[in-house]
Amino acid sequence: MNIALIGSGGREDALCRKLKESKNINQIFCIPGNAGTAQVATNLEVNFLDFKKLLKTLKAHKIKMVIVGPEEPLVKGVVNFLEKNRVKVFGPNKYASQLEGSKAFMKSICKKYNIPTAYFKVCHNQKEFKKSINKFNLPIVVKADGLAAGKGVVICKTKKQAFEISKKIFKGKFKSSKKVVLEEFLKGEEASYFLIVDKKSFVNFGTAQDHKKVFEREKGPNTGGMGAYSPAPIIDKNLEKKIISRIVKPTLQALKDKKQFYRGFLYVGLMIKNKDPYLIEYNVRMGDPECQVIMPRLKTDLFKIINYSLKNQIKKLNLKWEKKKCMTIVLCSKGYPGNYKKGKIIRIKKIKSKKNLFIFHAGTKLNNGNIYSTGGRVLNIVSKGQSYVEIRKKIIKLIKKINWRNGFFRKDIGWRVIDKL
Ligand code: AMP
Ligand code: GLY
Repeated sequence: MNIALIGSGGREDALCRKLKESKNINQIFCIPGNAGTAQVATNLEVNFLDFKKLLKTLKAHKIKMVIVGPEEPLVKGVVNFLEKNRVKVFGPNKYASQLEGSKAFMKSICKKYNIPTAYFKVCHNQKEFKKSINKFNLPIVVKADGLAAGKGVVICKTKKQAFEISKKIFKGKFKSSKKVVLEEFLKGEEASYFLIVDKKSFVNFGTAQDHKKVFEREKGPNTGGMGAYSPAPIIDKNLEKKIISRIVKPTLQALKDKKQFYRGFLYVGLMIKNKDPYLIEYNVRMGDPECQVIMPRLKTDLFKIINYSLKNQIKKLNLKWEKKKCMTIVLCSKGYPGNYKKGKIIRIKKIKSKKNLFIFHAGTKLNNGNIYSTGGRVLNIVSKGQSYVEIRKKIIKLIKKINWRNGFFRKDIGWRVIDKL
């Protein structure tokens, strides 16, 4: 069977290489892919948000199944569109994708089903904001309701700052939404819990912790993620039971009560406080860079997993994982997450992948045999091994060897687990 993977980040390169291990796939296409996916699949330069064009491309290449990497096409309903046109798709439909696409939607489920989460208020205008703001202590978390490419959340130290940011959101700074969600600031340790879900059931799909702040020791603005490691030691069996019973099951029940269902990867973003999980966010996709540390540990055939989920038989599979730990450090363009230059050449051709030390591409493009940067997050250097200290050393050594003058990275990825040793 020919399959297509939608997206162009490090997450998609990691998924693509894992799919490549399956013997049951004829050809893999990446839409649009990057210089990494080009090594193992065929990249197709198509705007995946233009659903009609996407369908035409799928038909032209006899692609029978699609796996969706990023959230935007999911939230815009790519699954509904393709299913209507008889293409198999792995991902949640438009209704279920609201779990990520609308924070107000997600929070209203939490409230109705008693799911532990930060206290919140949804405001539609400045009048409602002024009425609600005094119910919160500082700092206060201000969120745009809809998708905002990771820029829609600000932790405000003053009410004035919260007011300024809310005003911008009401005025339409983020096209996706003019609603503001105010949230209580939760203090604790963040961790991510992943699942594969189908109509009938779900299975755990790994745990990870990422580092969202751009600078070492969690300083500076938020990014998509500067590095990650899996597994997340903070999620032990006891905590996992609580995550499933208090958060996952009631959420899936909420969808069922609306005669809806979820299928696809589900990313549960958590704050752990006094050994109890609180839901910070849902993402209706794999994390990036979390996927890059989960895929290398997966021993079961990913294509088989996806097929089982499409047949609502995921519960029949017993997923197998490597015991080894995995870490990635993201090599970014200088200036990210602010302004940065694109189109800078990266010389990595001489670097050979090893079993336990390799590179997933993110914002890269192949042109005339050369690799150029196209984004803020450019490469993921990944390593697997027995100890986080050792694999981090190996990654940093390799980044130094790459010696990309336009790049920077964090040397302290994994500090929470490494400093505890
Ligand atoms: P979100 O897009 O909702 O995941 O928010 C992005 C990041 O902001 C999270 O990963 C957290 O680091 C932080 N954050 C969001 N909501 C809260 C909260 N209620 N309390 C503390 N930190 C938060
Ligand atoms: N690494 C955070 C995310 O994928 O949303």
